[in-house]
Amino acid sequence: MYDQYPISAWPDASIIEEKMSRLMTDKVYHIKPEAMKQYHSYFEKKCAGSKKMVDAAKTYIPGGVQHNLAFNYPFPLAIKNAEGAYLYDVDGNRYVDYLQAGGPTLLGSNYLPVQEKVIEVIRECSPCTGLFHEYELKLAQTINKYMPWVEMFRSLASGTEADMVAIRVARTYTGKKKIIKVGGAYHGWSDQLVYSLHIPQTKRLEANGIPEECTAHTQEILPNDIAGLRKLLEENEKNGGTAGVLLEPIGPESGTRLANRDFNRKARELCDEFGALLIFDEVVTAFRLGMGGAQGYFNVRPDLTVFGKIVAGGYPAAGGVGGKREIMSCLAAGVDVGKPRAYVGGTLSANPLSCAAGYFAIEEIARTNAPIIAGKNGDLLCAGIQKLIEKYNLPFVVWNTGSILHFEVAGMMYLSAKDPDIVKKLGERKNAVGEFGAALTANGIITLAGSRIYTSMADNEETLKLTLNAFEDVFSNLI
Ligand SMILES: Cc1ncc(COP(=O)(O)O)c(C=O)c1O
Repeated sequence: MYDQYPISAWPDASIIEEKMSRLMTDKVYHIKPEAMKQYHSYFEKKCAGSKKMVDAAKTYIPGGVQHNLAFNYPFPLAIKNAEGAYLYDVDGNRYVDYLQAGGPTLLGSNYLPVQEKVIEVIRECSPCTGLFHEYELKLAQTINKYMPWVEMFRSLASGTEADMVAIRVARTYTGKKKIIKVGGAYHGWSDQLVYSLHIPQTKRLEANGIPEECTAHTQEILPNDIAGLRKLLEENEKNGGTAGVLLEPIGPESGTRLANRDFNRKARELCDEFGALLIFDEVVTAFRLGMGGAQGYFNVRPDLTVFGKIVAGGYPAAGGVGGKREIMSCLAAGVDVGKPRAYVGGTLSANPLSCAAGYFAIEEIARTNAPIIAGKNGDLLCAGIQKLIEKYNLPFVVWNTGSILHFEVAGMMYLSAKDPDIVKKLGERKNAVGEFGAALTANGIITLAGSRIYTSMADNEETLKLTLNAFEDVFSNLI
């Protein structure tokens, strides 16, 4: 069952959709005021050091914290130590870490065998020189070893950049313009891709500061809408054509809107029919969903693959694009290949530190069978949370694809863009999720924004028990 990939069974997307529609018509669950008071007092009493630091940071850092995922209610925690399955804040409190820095630390935090190798490389040649380093080659070879459809790989500094580069390459190679994405998906924050983020059909809702022209050639289909994809591809034929279809192969937002098992295969067929490139955004899934990534699991060959996160092993500058040799040649740096070149740069792209970290992390992930171990942990946790949902008779929905686990208590991404009350409903649901996340944190569990969990190889019986106890405490305090 767990032969090569950590997916015990691909969840049925239509069952999840059905459960989600029930959740969306139910009331929004909140935490009882007396319980919320207790959770707040945890933050006030036990996290004074974090509060002080974040208050001071508000003077120098917009909002007091740099990273979107660190904006947690009631205030962000300042982390001092990270080790294995745990994080420790500046006040010495311990948390089970299911945020995993947004996904890259599949081996657990601060995994020593990788850290030691990285330190060796920095000592030897510094984190960056701007010139070629052996680990750039080793990383590209290793990615190709496990994901053979990535024949060539170009290192970049983030997933955002990698998505930008992938669509630039697609346009250079095909000579076409339109880029089709799936509504709700996040492909980084570049001008062209801040379009229908989180909630399908919200289009430019979050595109402040981005001129309309920038998103003029970005289009969307609804999740799993193959008929919609065909229609759009047909329309585009009359208007400059489609350069690329950009997908998270497990569905938008790491599968928050889960892809049907056969969606990618059908998208591949349509791309072939219309001469568009199929681009898989595997920023989250590469090496987490198994060594072959989601493309290996689904056995669907993309033309281009976008990398981030694990590709630098949890170290800085995590990004890259890979794919067919002929297409990737559009990126040839410094060499005139006699074809139009997709211009790409980056002072810190492909530095020895990131490439060595990525290379050693990927090899360790393969050696230790980390995707399978983390995936089994995801299965155990998912089953445990499901039992609690039933015990407390709640409409919440939980599912996992290996080490990527979703638990929906308010279904923000399932709101309809057509609902005239969307802004109000979004606010209420966001508060409910924020409270839920805070209650889990007060119980020693850090999640991704109160609705997602990435399990790791470092999780164990103790962390699973702590987590289920925390969920039970919160579930028993809802109204
Ligand atoms: C699917 C996907 N694509 C792209 C990105 C952007 O990557 P980065 O944060 O490295 O810019 C993310 C980030 O979470 C992501 O989840």
